[in-house]
Amino acid sequence: MAGGGFTTSGGEFEAKITPIVILSCMMAATGGLMFGYDIGVSGGVTSMPAFLKEFFPEVYRKTVEEEELDSNYCKYDNEKLQLFTSCLYLAGLMATFLASHITRRQGRRATMLISGFIFIAGVAFNAAAQNLAMLIIGRVLLGSGVGFANQAVPVFLSEIAPSRIRGALNILFQLNITLGILFSNLVNYATNKIKGGWGWRLSLGLGGLPALLLTLGAFLVVDTPNSLIERGHLEEGKSVLRKIRGIDNIEPEFLELLDASRVAKEVKHPFRNILKRKNRPQLVISIALQIFQQFTGINAIMFYAPVLFNTLGFKNDASLYSAVITGAVNVVSTVVSIYSVDRLGRKMLLLEAGAQMFLSQLVIAVIIGMKVKDHSEDLSKGFAVLVVVLVCIFVSAFAWSWGPLSWLIPSEIFPLETRSAGQSIAVCVNLLCTFVIAQAFLSMLCFFKFGIFLFFSGCVLIMSTFVLLLLPETKNVPIEEMTERVWKQHWLWNRFIDEDDCVKEEKVVTGN
Ligand code: BGC
Repeated sequence: MAGGGFTTSGGEFEAKITPIVILSCMMAATGGLMFGYDIGVSGGVTSMPAFLKEFFPEVYRKTVEEEELDSNYCKYDNEKLQLFTSCLYLAGLMATFLASHITRRQGRRATMLISGFIFIAGVAFNAAAQNLAMLIIGRVLLGSGVGFANQAVPVFLSEIAPSRIRGALNILFQLNITLGILFSNLVNYATNKIKGGWGWRLSLGLGGLPALLLTLGAFLVVDTPNSLIERGHLEEGKSVLRKIRGIDNIEPEFLELLDASRVAKEVKHPFRNILKRKNRPQLVISIALQIFQQFTGINAIMFYAPVLFNTLGFKNDASLYSAVITGAVNVVSTVVSIYSVDRLGRKMLLLEAGAQMFLSQLVIAVIIGMKVKDHSEDLSKGFAVLVVVLVCIFVSAFAWSWGPLSWLIPSEIFPLETRSAGQSIAVCVNLLCTFVIAQAFLSMLCFFKFGIFLFFSGCVLIMSTFVLLLLPETKNVPIEEMTERVWKQHWLWNRFIDEDDCVKEEKVVTGN
């Protein structure tokens, strides 16, 4: 992700926010919509009786025909049903490895095009599915599309945008994920009302809309100057740079891009490099943030909210409606993050949200534990509303903290030579943990019952302690001053920094 943006003296290159930059960013951000739509759509369709009847008849019997059950909590405990949700993330994980290669060799634009095509094929399989195999193949294709897009789009955005709006763009991608989730929640709510039991096909099919936008967009946009230069198209890279920056004097940034590309080529083994002792603080923090993000339990809600609400005894419509409410809270609270992240700081947001998530999950566990028995009645209206409110409190805290910050922090703490490898590792760890939660949650619910929320609140306690002790504040620290102002000042991480690194950094800051 070798980008220009800053001059070697720490200043910024001249750049206008040109229409072509705005258009490119809008197109590329549809990658976020595409990902979000998939996160939200599966829970809704798996709660629809017609869908269950066709593909998961054993689950359908448990939910609708009120067969004798071991426990209410186990209605949806079915490996294949979980596989339907989870295989997408496993495929995404595999695709990321290939995608990082193609992003480098063929460019960001080509990777986005491939992503759009694979994704559209996946949508076609899913919307036309006649059996479980077609559904799973479709989801695997969708996952591969997501893997390609999640690799190429953030790189594309960070390279095409002037450096001063790069942080905001990073959160914009997350905002688009939340909009995608909300869009799928709304679609599910609407298609569930369609008579004839084929509404789920529309739900799955409409996922093609953001993918179509991404594909069309990728046809229209230019590749980034960084990528063109990296692949040896120097003149084209220069003319694209002039076009996207909207100024004539692009020579300083062009020279820096040339230099960055040379340095990037010199790093023969970026993944071996990142394992060196001096990169340990960044690596540990990035991996921990991704694992913790998933172990907040957020995707238990994002994937399975309708199923969860059904388990608590909500009627089908009310479950889908409640998922729309939590989806909307997710979007609005992400906007809060955009405003507060550089004012309050990363640590403050994560700690405040930690307290909010811990308490809301604790209370949810107590209410469900007291009110939802294995074989008895559903939650009363009052308690049902209270649970939805508590879920919203939990989701809002996540959305202004762990949601965007687990992505933002890794993108700003790695030095240039390991940034791209660091980003790939972050994406992979995230997808792996997402897969684990998607595959395990319904079985965990069956096993732990209401205790599942105690489990997640325990995890939140552990991650908040990690933030308190081990996460340094990076608010308003320019990337090239990280060693001096962040790592050297930290009680633990300063042991991993040697004087050499500080001298190098000083040279970058002073330009000597
Ligand atoms: C996470 C997703 C999650 C989403 C919810 C993202 O940051 O990576 O797993 O579903 O936030 O908004």
